[in-house]
Amino acid sequence: MLNYTHSIPTRIFFGEGQISHLDDALRPFGKRVLLTYGGGSIKKIGLYDAVMKILNDGGYTVVELSGIEPNPRIESVEKGVALCKEHRIDVILAVGGGSTIDCSKAIAAGVYYEGDDLWQMVASRHGTLKALPLVDILTLSATGSEYDGGGVITNMKTNEKLGNMYTFPAVSICDPTYTFSVSKYQTAAGSADIISHICENYFSRTEDSDLADGIAETILKSVIKNLPIALAEPDNYSARANLMADSSVACSGIPAYGKQSTGWPCHAMEHELSAFYDITHGVGLAILTPRWMRHILKKDPTCAWRFVRFARNVWGLSGDDELALALAGIDALENFFRESGIPMTLTELNIGAEHFEEMAAHANVGGYLANAFVALTNEDIVEIYRACL
Ligand code: NZQ
Ligand code: ZN
Repeated sequence: MLNYTHSIPTRIFFGEGQISHLDDALRPFGKRVLLTYGGGSIKKIGLYDAVMKILNDGGYTVVELSGIEPNPRIESVEKGVALCKEHRIDVILAVGGGSTIDCSKAIAAGVYYEGDDLWQMVASRHGTLKALPLVDILTLSATGSEYDGGGVITNMKTNEKLGNMYTFPAVSICDPTYTFSVSKYQTAAGSADIISHICENYFSRTEDSDLADGIAETILKSVIKNLPIALAEPDNYSARANLMADSSVACSGIPAYGKQSTGWPCHAMEHELSAFYDITHGVGLAILTPRWMRHILKKDPTCAWRFVRFARNVWGLSGDDELALALAGIDALENFFRESGIPMTLTELNIGAEHFEEMAAHANVGGYLANAFVALTNEDIVEIYRACL
């Protein structure tokens, strides 16, 4: 087990009705609020009205930034920073999924960025030191943005989608009832994202981090149990609540305790797909993950022990032939995604092979994935993309 350092300054209020803490969460930071949200789902579910009532009753001055895109764009960050400066905003309130929260984190940091070009802040990738306070109300279980400091911003002009560390939310209000309205497609995609956040740490060379591996297996089993229930009964509170709790912990760094880092290869490959084709993050991950698994198992069979553990502990499979067991675990994951309604090929998303070399070079810039669980070259990545067609 390796050394680790960890700190999460975010206070989570989890459960139905926790919006009652919103006023207390915002009040210490000031009265001028930038309210950020996406394309309107929060209005359809009545959450916008509930938030505005609390803000109006509390005497807050509210400025709005709406229309934040899935795969949030740098242009939205620029708009938000301009609004914060113009209205001397004290605190940002993000209401939505990972895209709204990520964009709001970049806005919070962008207010203090000294350069002229906010894309340079995103592309610097070395983290930012100062940011406006951020409070969020989560409406989609997926990214874990409600409980981490990272954000991912897209520049469609340059086909780049880059993560950076901006700021942790001061408070995240996580009420599973707000996710009852999430479509089957986004529910499944979000769950695939949760699964991927776990797999990106679980498939590591470290063999003896029992706490991290135990948490990882528990979260995987929870998603495998609760996603089908949430798809069949969208307003099943218990299923939605478990997925929401899974989402926050999966990307929190806790499942990486004591483990050798892996470079998160599926995320590196997926961010290229989103940057070129603007696809849903979790769908890209679901397509890539089983193909990546088969590729590395074939390339370096000494990693089979980890897949055997995955097959036994997560999927409850058994058998004496270790390679067959390893492959059966991967098949089980792929079938699970397919049965959840996720399109499982790039062809179904109208994506062809034309940019694979460029995307591979970018995903592996500086030989970044040489330190992955199984090292990946650009050629490996192109092969994985091809297996996804
Ligand atoms: O825009 P609105 O109208 O709100 O609709 C959204 C959007 O169309 C909809 N939605 C959200 N909550 C809903 C709802 N629809 C009905 N009812 C609700 N309660 O769902 C669609 C997708 O929303 P989005 O926020 O884009 O989804 P998600 O939470 O999956 O976020 C994806 C983004 O987060 C990044 C991804 O790359 C992607 O850009 N990630 C952020 C991470 C982080 N901060 O740590 C880590 C992840 O690995 C990931 O990269
Ligand atoms: Zn992700």
